[in-house]
Amino acid sequence: MLAPVDLRSDTVTRPTPAMREAMATAAVGDDVFGEDPTVHALQSRAAILMGHEAGLFLPSGTMGNQIALLTHCRPGDDVLVGQHAHAFLYESGGGGAIAGVQFTAVGQGGHFTAEQMQGSIKGGDSSGHVPPSTLVMVENTHNRGGGKVMAPETFAAIAEAARARGLAVHIDGARLFNAAAALGVGPDAWARHADSVTFCLSKGLGAPVGSVICGSKATIGRAHRYRKMLGGGMRQAGVLAAAGLVALDDAPQLVDDHRRAKALAAALAGMKGAAIDPDTVQSNIVIFDVRDYSPTEICTQVADDLLILPFGPTSIRAVLHRDVSDTMLERAIEALGTVLHG
Ligand SMILES: Cc1ncc(COP(=O)(O)O)c(C=O)c1O
Repeated sequence: MLAPVDLRSDTVTRPTPAMREAMATAAVGDDVFGEDPTVHALQSRAAILMGHEAGLFLPSGTMGNQIALLTHCRPGDDVLVGQHAHAFLYESGGGGAIAGVQFTAVGQGGHFTAEQMQGSIKGGDSSGHVPPSTLVMVENTHNRGGGKVMAPETFAAIAEAARARGLAVHIDGARLFNAAAALGVGPDAWARHADSVTFCLSKGLGAPVGSVICGSKATIGRAHRYRKMLGGGMRQAGVLAAAGLVALDDAPQLVDDHRRAKALAAALAGMKGAAIDPDTVQSNIVIFDVRDYSPTEICTQVADDLLILPFGPTSIRAVLHRDVSDTMLERAIEALGTVLHG
């Protein structure tokens, strides 16, 4: 029996033969002593791609966001994020527990404008009642926002307005390469305006493990200390960084995932039991509403052929990634059609 097509997340990708080969032959050293040449190569390449001075290899995107909070904020500070930001919703309360910050959600649907952000900045009262906003964090693409891409100009305006008010700017760019592929620009179109940026190698880019945080030498110097504090100092991590370097070579193929996501959305739009506006699909994430059954019932009904996840009381998420071919997508659409009446 064929294994079901797995659209639960772009984190389910397996390392490619080229990644495994690079991992097997990687030059390595003890990276806590700063002696791993492959980690250095990845960090330098990441910094150049992002338009920053330095990069730091990390085990995960969550650690990248937590390090950014620790690096830019002090306990008691307020952090401005878009609605449903990963750092707010899905990092197990790390922002409060580890960095001691609180979050204020700005705008609707994940993204926001410079004007909306300015209206949410707190602090400056002489009585000290109000926690000062010291960081704005933008998630691009936005996961709960359905893979939404923020226009580089919108981000540049947010960064400029934030800096004018003394706030630092961090990008949760877990899927920044998807944003770049969607617009046909480099990831530096956003990253160069930020004080720090994290991106994940282990999502659409397909590496087995790893994220990188980039920023100025001073910022990454502070991040380095916090990585150690959080237990993220890794030893012969070159075996992982080697896969990350191959993943960066493969970034141009993200456009195929986006093409398939749009095809899936178009097919769903023609099914009676589903509701989606295909024009809202900008990258590799497809979120659709369902009518006749609950999301859990639908996910269970298609599970022999297709794995997808309930994403809200009436919605389901499907994520396209490099391990899904056109044929597999056809099978996924057929499975959905049997339940949603395509
Ligand atoms: C937008 C966003 N940021 C951060 C993360 C965290 O990445 P990791 O799973 O590597 O901790 C994720 C994971 O899905 C994410 O979607």
